Amino acid sequence: MGENGGAWERLLALRHHGGTAPAQRGEALTAALVDLYLPFAQIPRGRRFAVAHLGQSLDGRIATAAGASRWVTGEADLIHTHRMRALADAIIVGSSTIRHDNPQLTVRRCCGPHPVRVVVDAERRLGAGHCVFHDPSAPTLLLAAADRVRPGERLGHAELVGLKRGAHGFAPADIAAALAERGLFFLFIEGGGITISRFLAAGALDRLQITVAPILLGSGKPSLTLPEIAAPEQGLRPTLRRFRLGQDTLYECVFRD
Ligand SMILES: NC(=O)c1ccc[n+]([C@@H]2O[C@H](COP(=O)([O-])OP(=O)(O)OC[C@H]3O[C@@H](n4cnc5c(N)ncnc54)[C@H](OP(=O)(O)O)[C@@H]3O)[C@@H](O)[C@H]2O)c1
Repeated sequence: MGENGGAWERLLALRHHGGTAPAQRGEALTAALVDLYLPFAQIPRGRRFAVAHLGQSLDGRIATAAGASRWVTGEADLIHTHRMRALADAIIVGSSTIRHDNPQLTVRRCCGPHPVRVVVDAERRLGAGHCVFHDPSAPTLLLAAADRVRPGERLGHAELVGLKRGAHGFAPADIAAALAERGLFFLFIEGGGITISRFLAAGALDRLQITVAPILLGSGKPSLTLPEIAAPEQGLRPTLRRFRLGQDTLYECVFRD
C-alpha cells in the first residue's frame, strides 16, 4: 500500500510525472501529509522554485560551535527533509556543511528519487574525500569560481561548474540560472545558515522552512544572518504555515506562491 495509504507515492508521482492529487480527506495523518506536501507536488515541471530548510534550537542555533549538528531536530524532521529531497530536482549545500557533516544527501528515509547534489565551494577548499564526491548514488555538481575550474575538470565523480563570483560570492540568481540550464528547476537548499541567508537576502527563496526543536544550545552556529535593520517593524513578516513534526514545530514562510 505504501506510505500513508499510498498518499506519499501519489504526491511523488504528481510532482515527477503528472497525475492526480491524493484526497485531502481521510485519516488525520494522510490529511496532514497532503496538506504539507501538495503545494510542492503541484509545482509545474520547468518552473523555477527554491525552498530552503533549517533545523534549529529554540535559541536559533543550527549546530554547536565545533559544527556538530546531529541531531538538533528529531526523527520526524529528518523524514521531512528526505521527503523534500525526493520532491526536488537538486539539493544545494554550502562547503562548510560538507566539511562538518560529510552528508550523503540521498533519499533514504522515504521512497523517492535522489536529487542532483550541488555543493557551493567558490574557492575550491574541499578535497575529493567527501562522500558526495565519490558516492555514485546520485550525480554531484560542484559550483566553483570560473577562474578555479579547468575545462572538463572533475572532483571525484563530481562535475565542476564555473560561475562568476562577486564581492559576496555567487549571486543566488546566477546559481539558479546555471542549474536551470541543466534542467534543474526545483531547488531544495538544505544549509547551512550562511548559504540559506544569502538566498534569503537576495530575495531568491519562494519558501523557507524552519523547524524549531525544544532545545537550547546556548552557543553555536547561527541559523539566519541578514543585513542589519534599524527597527523590528523592518523585519520580514511572511505568510506562515505551521506543522507539528513530533516534538518539533515546522514554520514555513511563504514568500511567493
Ligand atoms: N541544523 C541544520 O538544519 C543544518 C543544516 C545544514 C548544516 N548544518 C550545520 O551548519 C554548519 C554549516 O553551516 P554554515 O552556515 O556555517 O555554512 P554553510 O552554509 O554550510 O557553508 C557556507 C560556505 O559555503 C560557501 N558558500 C555558500 N553560499 C555561497 C555563495 N552564494 N557564493 C559563494 N560561496 C558560497 C562559502 O564558502 P567559502 O567561505 O569557503 O567560500 C561559505 O562560507 C555545520 O556545522 C553543519 O553541521 C546544520
